[in-house]
Amino acid sequence: MRITCSGCAKVLVIPDERLPKGKAIAFPCPTCSTMIKIDLQSQVSGQKPAPQANGQKTAAQAKTEKVYLTGEALKQKIVKTVDELPPMPQTVIKAREIMDDPKAGFKELATLFESDQAIAAKILKLANSPFYGIVGGVSSIQQASIVLGQKVLRELITLSGVSGLLGNQLAGYGLDVGDLWKHSLAVAFGARHIAVKVDAKLENDAFTTGLLHDSGKLILDTYITERWQQFEEALADGKRTFIEAERKVLALDHPEIAAEVCKAWHIPKEISHGIRYHHHPSQSKGSKLAYIVHVADAIALMSGIGLGVDGTRYQIEEGTMAFLKLNDEDLSEIMGHMLSAAKKITEE
Ligand SMILES: [Fe+2]
Ligand SMILES: [Fe+2]
Repeated sequence: MRITCSGCAKVLVIPDERLPKGKAIAFPCPTCSTMIKIDLQSQVSGQKPAPQANGQKTAAQAKTEKVYLTGEALKQKIVKTVDELPPMPQTVIKAREIMDDPKAGFKELATLFESDQAIAAKILKLANSPFYGIVGGVSSIQQASIVLGQKVLRELITLSGVSGLLGNQLAGYGLDVGDLWKHSLAVAFGARHIAVKVDAKLENDAFTTGLLHDSGKLILDTYITERWQQFEEALADGKRTFIEAERKVLALDHPEIAAEVCKAWHIPKEISHGIRYHHHPSQSKGSKLAYIVHVADAIALMSGIGLGVDGTRYQIEEGTMAFLKLNDEDLSEIMGHMLSAAKKITEE
């Protein structure tokens, strides 16, 4: 018998011989623990339920049919799935803390990376990419810190923590393997570049906000794939943006769920707030990070980096350029910087 869990939509196949005929049974879904109830009274003596005339469903068929959660119940379920995301590596969280502590020295950082060679190797690989242009390359974290400086090392540590996750394919958003990673990198470098022009002290935070701005897509992708038909219907008349369709079908959007991801990954509140409003910075109560990432995101999409199914449906909010005191010339200069940075850091 095939049963679809109403909680997580997982299809369970249970051999008929294991089902107690003529009884009603209940058991928790092995994936999400939602109680699944099956009434087998109509199947006494192993008889299959008789097919109904005129195509009507039998009672048993109706009970096993996929039921989609909606509204608040769906939202709660999606929020819970954030816990299933691989966590931000502890080494990355600790390294960021050490770098934020003015009393901590490089010795602590070196000891930390000695215990996590996988992260150390990722950092060195990124440090040796053509983007940083180190002649002869670097072979240790300490050398990278001396040659590139603390600020860049911090940037590399953050990148190493999320490169695997953001590199995945997101079928629901139409993003191939590596597409979201390239888009996130472009927005991170673009946001940092804009921050230097607008408010230099936001440089590091703008980078992280840009890097993680679409992390909510990692969670929503499964639900979009599963409910693609509902998305098509929501978008059919061309009046909705993709983010409005996310809200209509899933009861939340990718920036909202990204705020939950940030909580799980111990990302500071200012950054998570900037991410929350990256599509509507005017609602952020003046978060410069939200405005900066909004512009960087728009430029990346205009350049065709990480477009996916939703990329062409976003627009720059009115008042954004004035808020950041940017003009059209700045936009093309930022675009040039972004394209070359994203290309160089992904080169071997
Ligand atoms: Fe987004
Ligand atoms: Fe984006």
